[in-house]
Amino acid sequence: MNVLIVGATGDVGSEAAKCAVEKGHRVRALVRNTSNREKLAEAKDKIEFSEGDILDKASLELAMEGTEALVISIRLTPGEQKKGLTYKDVELSGVKNLVEVARQKGIKKIIHVSADGVGPECVSDMYQSKHQAEEAIRNSGIDYTIFKPSGMFKDFNFFHIPNVLKMGETSMWPFGPIEFHMSPLSHIDLAKCMIDALSNPAASNKTLGIGGPDCITQGELLNMIVKEAGIKANYTQGISKEQLIEMVKSNPQKSFFTAEQIKDFINDSKLDHAVIKEIFGIEFQHVEDFLKKSVPIVKASMAKQEK
Ligand SMILES: NC(=O)c1ccc[n+]([C@@H]2O[C@H](COP(=O)([O-])OP(=O)(O)OC[C@H]3O[C@@H](n4cnc5c(N)ncnc54)[C@H](OP(=O)(O)O)[C@@H]3O)[C@@H](O)[C@H]2O)c1
Repeated sequence: MNVLIVGATGDVGSEAAKCAVEKGHRVRALVRNTSNREKLAEAKDKIEFSEGDILDKASLELAMEGTEALVISIRLTPGEQKKGLTYKDVELSGVKNLVEVARQKGIKKIIHVSADGVGPECVSDMYQSKHQAEEAIRNSGIDYTIFKPSGMFKDFNFFHIPNVLKMGETSMWPFGPIEFHMSPLSHIDLAKCMIDALSNPAASNKTLGIGGPDCITQGELLNMIVKEAGIKANYTQGISKEQLIEMVKSNPQKSFFTAEQIKDFINDSKLDHAVIKEIFGIEFQHVEDFLKKSVPIVKASMAKQEK
């Protein structure tokens, strides 16, 4: 299939592009002149690059020429947010541009990555933009599969693992509730499902919550990290979602996220992995296997930085 991947130099998109090449698809990637093409490793030589931007419709028309399917894995980058662009500008208007050009060009299939918890009731700019982008795809008349991942393992590397290592012997997690569930997954497994969905009839016209095989609480995750790190700690308490929101409201400049974003994305979420397993039939990586490899790497890199 001729596939255009948008966001092909991102974490999820680059894995989707590599997987599409491996599966024998003809892959074109929409990239900017600043995008890091090295992220595609050896697959780079088998990918055709089309320079453009989702905010520039003319560039999308060129990129979608001769394309049958569109894979979208974009997000507002922190750099562009600093320059004043909003979620609505990029994650909503950008996706609407993609849908409009996809319809003009007769694209047959759209794969899109959104997030668990996104819905009409969401209050933040981030999750409302994601919800309306999903709606634009669902209403496009084009066959679609929208993936809504629960947390991804890759985020543990820069948030959960370093914080557990820094805090050492403690029982208190100061960043949120520990009793909420999540079903984190590998972004590589997500990418495999995205490419399979291009031709899998069971994924046709579906919005799928997607999580890995382990449905665990945040506290269980923290204690798994503790075990791998060999630290004397046992997380038994956290702070409530309401307390966290109040803390952010009283000191907004200290928080990376707004109170509204926290309202939307900190949720007790139990996804049924069996549904995903049934549709895609692949073996997903377990949290424990990920941590076994990752904790020593993060530990070593923190030790190096301290020197
Ligand atoms: N991390 C998680 O746990 C998690 C959980 C749930 C859902 N998600 C969602 O998964 C999706 C993919 O996440 P990710 O971590 O792979 O993101 P990422 O690594 O930040 O990649 C984002 C990609 O979007 C591209 N992009 C941004 N603005 C663009 C524009 N105007 N025109 C063209 N391309 C543009 C970037 O291009 P450049 O390379 O040129 O910057 C990059 O390739 C996001 O929607 C995210 O919200 C993530």
